[in-house]
Amino acid sequence: MKVRIDGVTRDFRTLWREGKTVKMINQRKLPHKFEIYSTNSYIETAEAIRSMTLRGAGAIGVAGAYGIAQAALEFAESSVEEFEVKIRDAAAILVKTRPTAVNLANAVSRCLSVAGKGIVAERVKRIVNEADAIAEEDLESSRRIGDYGSQLIQDGSRLLTHCNAGALAFIDYGTALSPIRFAHVQGKEIFVFVDETRPRCQGSKLTSWELKQEGIQHAVIVDNAAGYFMRKGEIDMVIVGADRIAANGDVANKIGTYEKAVLARENGIPFYVAAPRMTFDLECSTGDEIVIEERDTEEVLSIWGEDENQAILKVYITPRDTPALNPSFDVTPAKYITGFITEVGIIKSPYRENIAKKLSRRLV
Ligand code: MRU
Repeated sequence: MKVRIDGVTRDFRTLWREGKTVKMINQRKLPHKFEIYSTNSYIETAEAIRSMTLRGAGAIGVAGAYGIAQAALEFAESSVEEFEVKIRDAAAILVKTRPTAVNLANAVSRCLSVAGKGIVAERVKRIVNEADAIAEEDLESSRRIGDYGSQLIQDGSRLLTHCNAGALAFIDYGTALSPIRFAHVQGKEIFVFVDETRPRCQGSKLTSWELKQEGIQHAVIVDNAAGYFMRKGEIDMVIVGADRIAANGDVANKIGTYEKAVLARENGIPFYVAAPRMTFDLECSTGDEIVIEERDTEEVLSIWGEDENQAILKVYITPRDTPALNPSFDVTPAKYITGFITEVGIIKSPYRENIAKKLSRRLV
């Protein structure tokens, strides 16, 4: 993605690997500060995923793969028996950090499955190569999603998106935002309504930052405003990303997605989900089987922002110790989804049949 820093435009990936170090854009600091954060061990990478220094299904998938690569490099001097035990423990630690987005579990499991047998040095090499391949695939699938998805966007379209499924949620481009970027580059006049996405405000902090970097017209709206704009006929299409898609097409995505889908149906607006193959979990028959991450209620009770002196601080917005509930995702039933924008094309209903047909290659 293009990032303008002090008047100079540079290209960045959301995360990348330099030997045993993983570097990432620090998403806890955006949009106020642009900083690169480094992890030097798989434990530090696991903590970066847990604390949401980087977040988004694709990005945490690649971070999981890089984390396993770091672990493999760390254990390179171990005996075969030790290596096998240690690498499995490292995988369990990484996968546990965030349970809903299946990209993480899929990526870690892919790295383990290529390790194979034989001497440790060879296993390490295969794991590291696989992690790098997963990162490149993530980039390529986002590009293809952009290409396919942009064909659905008309000149003059007004779109709504929820949370951040942009470049920052992947290596680059993203899923929901990739068709929007492609449509913009193709010269289509578009406007994006950006849900703020409480409690962590990925919409107002990250999606708005990305759209500004790209010069795409947009406005942040509070989470409760989507119905208002839909009813006034100001939204032509909704595109969101996904964290896990069940075999029947039910979609787990950021909390609040479900209600946007119901509102879109009520108002006759197409509702698309953009996601790569890595986000489909064919072992999960319906959305009822998806584990929903519950996060710290501090996220609901407080908010982070920048004051007028540009100091980043946290303020409480409720009485202290107020009880709160913080499910991080919800499940949108497949019946509300107009289609899936994937790297192999648009998937339409009947979903169970068409998802299986289009994504027949094994995921893990
Ligand atoms: O908690 P996050 O920020 O990791 O969740 C990300 C989302 O839920 C996004 O909505 C997105 O669509 C999935 S990531 C592409």
